[in-house]
Amino acid sequence: MSETIIVYYSLEGNIDFVAKNLAEKISCSNVVRLETVKAYPTKGLFKFLHGGKDAMKGFKPELKTALPDLSKFDIVVIGTPVWASRPSAPINTFIEKCDFSGKKVFILASSMGGSSASTIEAISSEVTKKGATVVASTSFVNPLKNQEKAKAAIAEFASKVN
Ligand SMILES: Cc1cc2nc3c(=O)[nH]c(=O)nc-3n(C[C@H](O)[C@H](O)[C@H](O)COP(=O)(O)O)c2cc1C
Repeated sequence: MSETIIVYYSLEGNIDFVAKNLAEKISCSNVVRLETVKAYPTKGLFKFLHGGKDAMKGFKPELKTALPDLSKFDIVVIGTPVWASRPSAPINTFIEKCDFSGKKVFILASSMGGSSASTIEAISSEVTKKGATVVASTSFVNPLKNQEKAKAAIAEFASKVN
């Protein structure tokens, strides 16, 4: 039996919704929501400025969440919002600090309408460098506002992870 872990960052709940729905669909109880020591702003222009700048620089913020020991898992699902067409900065920290050798990786990304392609590509490239194989990825647009559509896409994605 393959063991699966879902690790994600979500500032405003969209990827949280996707990750939790996926966990339910694949009966996965290993779900880790990453949180930063210094919280990112959730309102106004600063929301885009802070996170966007960090994402563009490839910054790795300190995490408050204890990082999981990936050695117990064969499959790692990574979830992130798109920040300035890049992975959200906390995902950079997670990828840098964990050992991905031999892991099968699945990627979930969420945006507000822009393309998720370069975000998925950046994560794929980093985990591949660290010895993982990326099996599949999918992207969502405002899943919290389009919950039924998102759930259908999550069900389809779940069949690939299982
Ligand atoms: C710092 C920041 C940068 C963002 N950059 C983009 C972007 O480049 N393209 C886009 O379509 N959405 C962008 N968004 C919107 C989020 O990707 C989108 O709302 C996503 O669904 C949020 O997921 P979350 O609720 O899990 O945080 C950005 C949001 C933030 C906070």
